[in-house]
Amino acid sequence: MAYKIAVLPGDGIGPEIVAQAKKVCDAITKKFGHEFEYTEALVGATAIDQVGDPYPADTHELCMNSDAVLFGAIGHPKFDNDPSAKVRPEQGLLRMRKTLGLYANLRPVNTFKSLIHKSPLKTELVDGADFMCIRELTGGIYFGRPQGRSEDGQTAYDSCVYTAEEIERIIRLGFEYAGKRRKKLTIVDKANVLATSRLWREIGQKVAPDYPDIEVEYMFVDNAAMQIITWPKRFDVMVTENMFGDILTDEASVISGSMGMLPSASIGVHTSVFEPIHGSYPQAAGKNIANPCATVLSAAMMFEYAFGMMKEGALIREAVDQSLEAGVVTEDIADGKKAYSTSEVGDWLAEYIEKA
Ligand code: IPM
Ligand code: MG
Repeated sequence: MAYKIAVLPGDGIGPEIVAQAKKVCDAITKKFGHEFEYTEALVGATAIDQVGDPYPADTHELCMNSDAVLFGAIGHPKFDNDPSAKVRPEQGLLRMRKTLGLYANLRPVNTFKSLIHKSPLKTELVDGADFMCIRELTGGIYFGRPQGRSEDGQTAYDSCVYTAEEIERIIRLGFEYAGKRRKKLTIVDKANVLATSRLWREIGQKVAPDYPDIEVEYMFVDNAAMQIITWPKRFDVMVTENMFGDILTDEASVISGSMGMLPSASIGVHTSVFEPIHGSYPQAAGKNIANPCATVLSAAMMFEYAFGMMKEGALIREAVDQSLEAGVVTEDIADGKKAYSTSEVGDWLAEYIEKA
């Protein structure tokens, strides 16, 4: 039986990086004899331009009927610079997350031996850093209502809203992941200021006794932002609300030396989505220079999380490690040496896998 993969390239560099992830998936298919059926669909600014909706009904139906979604990137400067735009590409991504019930976004932060010198942090601080940030993805200030402007347009408001149920399911997931790793969970909040954060803390304290072998700590988000760059190795699993998770993972992503290396998996009720954490990088769109590794590593997460194919995932990771070792890298990490194009890196990875 063929696995059905919905492919949503999106905007900017999305189509180029997703094309490399597909090459890698095809190489895995050849090597392991799996069958995949890809179907592309519109999302983001591209979808607004073509059909006036950033997450069209057809796209949603395809996602619902697929085994996994491989996602590129979303966003376009023409919308970023027009705060009055009624329809925005990001609404498509948020609607996709919400309607698929993807309440947990897993963002693994780790380092690559041959890239450590590219990290803005000192080697001894980052060498061996390895933690998982679990970001709540369908609640909080991203979705809270009311949101908008007063009638005279002179006041704007967003609401941060969390129910106990939403908090409990993500905190429990955090404990479960910690149980599979080094058994330490950090719950990040701003409980000294925010009511929602106090509910997070209360629920953390309520469920913690169910996980007696997990060491749990509570940390304010400002402190967490500081600890990520002063002592990233102290973290094992971190769980936090939507916006804190968005911000902290951009910060954490550069620990590895490039934002172009950090993948993610969004999981929950319906089909899981696998997407790099970086954005659409419009300045590089169409230039064949963007780093495809975060998307390729998201495909590795797809094999592991959606299909339970651990060997396949591991081989993709190995290929990425080897490409870094061999210096077959894009300009963001080439460090003055020869920079390879996006498609050359994809070709190299696919060939490595086929020959492995
Ligand atoms: C991310 C992105 C999105 C987010 C944007 C594009 C809406 O920054 O996935 O981290 O804020 O969730
Ligand atoms: Mg982000």
